[in-house]
Amino acid sequence: MKSIKTLGQFIIEKQADFPYAKGELSRLLRDIGIAAKIVNREVNKAGLVDILGNVQGVNVSGESQKKLDVYADEQFITALKSGGECCFVASEEQDEGVQLVDDGVSKDANYVVCIDPLDGSSNIEVNVSVGTIFSIYRRKSNAGEDVSQDDLLQKGTKQVAAGYIIYGSSTMLVYTTGKGVNGFTLDPSIGEFCLSHPNMTIPKDGHIYSINEGNYLKFPQGIKDYIKYCQVEDAASNRPFTSRYIGSMVADIHRNLLMGGIFIYPQTAQQPFGKLRLMYECNPIAFIIEQAGGKASTGEQRIMEVTPHHLHQRVPAIIGSTKMVDKVLSFL
Ligand code: AHG
Ligand code: MN
Ligand code: MN
Repeated sequence: MKSIKTLGQFIIEKQADFPYAKGELSRLLRDIGIAAKIVNREVNKAGLVDILGNVQGVNVSGESQKKLDVYADEQFITALKSGGECCFVASEEQDEGVQLVDDGVSKDANYVVCIDPLDGSSNIEVNVSVGTIFSIYRRKSNAGEDVSQDDLLQKGTKQVAAGYIIYGSSTMLVYTTGKGVNGFTLDPSIGEFCLSHPNMTIPKDGHIYSINEGNYLKFPQGIKDYIKYCQVEDAASNRPFTSRYIGSMVADIHRNLLMGGIFIYPQTAQQPFGKLRLMYECNPIAFIIEQAGGKASTGEQRIMEVTPHHLHQRVPAIIGSTKMVDKVLSFL
């Protein structure tokens, strides 16, 4: 019988890569894994209970919040709070950073987390894959001091870990701590994430492009030119490329990571920074894709080098196989 390695076992083994590690990051990753299993349970029975649909309210970006968005947000924040290794959280569903306190005393913990608790939530009612995206930083202030926005507003290059969970035809957790990317598939029969995709790498080139072409007329000329390039017949470069767009960033990125491809969410005149958020969508995905050997750019600079000014800041995103990203950049 083939032996399995659970996420918990893997995290503990990898702790040895960080000789001075005290296990805090390992415990934090474990906490996220536990919350992911709880959210997975609810996502899977979404059609069975009265949890689908909108709650009354919109989030800070003006989008209506889905019940499961709010549920996932609560689950992750609760897990991070009770786990004890995180002192401050930025979430898509919270206007401001959430300070984690116990009995009125703020946590001494050394890490902060940025999270999109449920990505692609407009897809949930139609049974299409959704996800969670997270990013982990060391706080800038010292443990015991008051936290401030500065603790959260760090460049993507400062991430110590990032990952996503995809609630798909199977549920997977994919993460990096800056030493490559590993993927774990949830075995529902034992309730554990098991190492299924060790050392994930994205093909250097691909033939899938993922972009919401409905917005074509609003795209910058360079992006329009690239889309036309994808559609031209050319046997030597395997064109026309295949267009695949799910509308859940996690799912589009996951497919492209496995198969090679490019994901683009550009700016438009109406949305000068595009739609996707830097802190809890683009930075963590950029870290994972770079660690897998790919590239992530705003069109002007490396996503992870963008200076953040706001928790819900948006950036244009061009992410995927290195050669494809370079090709897009050559059109801009
Ligand atoms: P969220 O559900 O967290 O708001 O994110 C949705 C995002 C992303 O997952 C997806 O790639 C993109 O929105 C789709 O946007 P369009 O419908 O504009 O293409
Ligand atoms: Mn999202
Ligand atoms: Mn979301």
